[in-house]
Amino acid sequence: MLVTGGTGTLGRQVVPLVQAAGWKVRVLSRHAQDRGDGIEYVAADLTQGDGLDAVVEGAEVVVHLAGGPKGDDIGTQNLVQAAERAGVRHLVHISVTAVDQLPLTYFKSKLGAEQAVRRSSVPWTVLRAAQFHDFALRTTRAMAKLPVLPVPGGVRFQPVDARDVAERLVELALGEPAGLVPDVVGPKVYTVGELAQDYLKATGKRRLSLPIRVPGKAGKVYRAGGNLTLSGAHVGTRTWEDFLAAQTSAKAAAE
Ligand SMILES: NC(=O)c1ccc[n+]([C@@H]2O[C@H](COP(=O)([O-])OP(=O)(O)OC[C@H]3O[C@@H](n4cnc5c(N)ncnc54)[C@H](OP(=O)(O)O)[C@@H]3O)[C@@H](O)[C@H]2O)c1
Repeated sequence: MLVTGGTGTLGRQVVPLVQAAGWKVRVLSRHAQDRGDGIEYVAADLTQGDGLDAVVEGAEVVVHLAGGPKGDDIGTQNLVQAAERAGVRHLVHISVTAVDQLPLTYFKSKLGAEQAVRRSSVPWTVLRAAQFHDFALRTTRAMAKLPVLPVPGGVRFQPVDARDVAERLVELALGEPAGLVPDVVGPKVYTVGELAQDYLKATGKRRLSLPIRVPGKAGKVYRAGGNLTLSGAHVGTRTWEDFLAAQTSAKAAAE
């Protein structure tokens, strides 16, 4: 099985599960290096497209997690073409909830990526995930570095644990191609203010908050909850509070 982006936040959770299921794993990323852990690491840049035939060769299943702030559409198109040439049996792609609702650069590029997969002749499965806890942590941590905490009014998220997403992805990758499957989201919906307050509480910090308004069409979508999946989703088990508590105890154990 080829796992693109297998060294990233999600990929690091997916790869051991695939190995535990008895599969030989090849990991693709730009900076992949052998780690002596029984995994084959291959370095290539999907957006460049060179050498992808060799990367995909022999892979029955491709789990496509590689991605960044931009260029996912081009990189995914390159991967899809290589997968078609190689006769891959199942292409599993991670997308993001509300990918077709939000007119923001990241979402446009992710939509292009999703479309490349859905138009492919390779049988596919696409899973859209809500924002990961790790992403919520990076964002609230950055906000808390400011003297006053900016809180966008009316914006809510349902962050999900990367381990819950990984478990669902591996279940899908080991099954038959299933098309666009129900979104995977976290067990609770939080305002940005609640996410930030939980972070401040867990880290013993205090900040005054400053309400701000997200402008434009994206702001309207967020305030209307168009980024949320409130029914029919696959719901993860681990909450934001669980995640923060685990982070705090890991930090305390390291000190
Ligand atoms: N984070 C979220 O909240 C969230 C929510 C929903 C969906 N997703 C999607 O889930 C996927 C994984 O997210 P993540 O948070 O795990 O990302 P991440 O931690 O930034 O990891 C990205 C992975 O992709 C590799 N990569 C990036 N650009 C590449 C390129 N051009 N060619 C080859 N490899 C490349 C990176 O390794 P190198 O740097 O070594 O190349 C790394 O292994 C992404 O597709 C993302 O859009 C994320």
